[in-house]
Amino acid sequence: MKDFEGKIAFITGGASGAGFGQAQIFSEAGMKVVIADIRQDHMDNAAAHFKGTGAPVHFIKLDVMDRDGWAAAADETEKVFGTTPDLLIMTAGVNVPGPVEASTYDDFDWIIGVNFGGVVNGLVTFAPRMIKAGRGGHIAATVSMGAFGAAPMVAPYTAAKAAALNILECYYQALKPYGIAVSAFMPANIKSNIHESALKNRPAHFAETGYNVTEQTADYHYTGMHIYGTEPRVLAERFKKGLEDEIFLIVPYKNGARMVELDLQRFPLMTSIEGTEELERRRAGPPTDEQKALFFEKENFEWDAVRSPVSREEIGFGMAKKELDWIAEEKRAK
Ligand code: NAI
Repeated sequence: MKDFEGKIAFITGGASGAGFGQAQIFSEAGMKVVIADIRQDHMDNAAAHFKGTGAPVHFIKLDVMDRDGWAAAADETEKVFGTTPDLLIMTAGVNVPGPVEASTYDDFDWIIGVNFGGVVNGLVTFAPRMIKAGRGGHIAATVSMGAFGAAPMVAPYTAAKAAALNILECYYQALKPYGIAVSAFMPANIKSNIHESALKNRPAHFAETGYNVTEQTADYHYTGMHIYGTEPRVLAERFKKGLEDEIFLIVPYKNGARMVELDLQRFPLMTSIEGTEELERRRAGPPTDEQKALFFEKENFEWDAVRSPVSREEIGFGMAKKELDWIAEEKRAK
């Protein structure tokens, strides 16, 4: 997508973090923007930002897991801005860390339902409408560099992101004849409010969790990690450049291609015993200078930096609930 002026963007999770950065950048590029988000407080903050600017921004309360809600949001967009969006960005996401073996069905259903199901629902709702409108356009989702890994402490998340990346690539190939481009946006650490997912974004009907979740662990999630993340507006500028270039895999870092290569090299290694041993050796050893440099580029903090005044063990961050006595002791909150 090269010209943004006067066109319509529909952004899920657009009221906070990465999505709010995108809403600002695309609004400033002259687009009419729909911000669809589940959190009223986030939408109120975002509305306060746009108030008085005269920018055409419309807010819709939407849970991306709610399929009827998607259809209603699509109808409302057409009513408010006259037609279907030119740019669909699916950025809504949640994450809560905990050992994969402690995960409940609710942990999987909610985290996969938002991060992957939310993307599927957006594609099923909007791809036919965009095709029928016949104006081409662009569909993107904020995935994550986590899609390239298998992280046992955030397993439902990395599994959902890997699936989102895959389905986007399928649509990328399929929608080309209709003049609709598709992109996957692959940031690493973002200065955002994702640490609030555990306590503020989780619906009551998915409340049963195996993870140790407290105010303290949520705070640690921010002070230990996201406070060092890249600013959403900076990421949104890089994302916009990727859309302009019509790149499928938008990795918003200078050495993006090398980062992807390193993340994926475990697969060929895991096809043989020798390769698996080599991988284990690499994992057990210290990071190479190249890994450290690339990590710093993505994460904005030094590999060995002390990142929080309290230790992860002390507060049980990323651990299982203490009553799950079948989980290894070192993975359980005290
Ligand atoms: P955030 O929490 O600041 O923003 C996410 C927004 O999504 C919030 O406004 C939240 O209310 C909304 N949301 C949550 N559940 C929803 C639902 N069911 N329906 C509609 N809206 C919902 O977090 P952040 O970090 O800006 O997340 C945006 C995207 O970036 C997510 O997809 C996340 O997975 C991805 N990401 C985040 C990274 C990070 O370091 N925070 C790294 C890489 C990717």
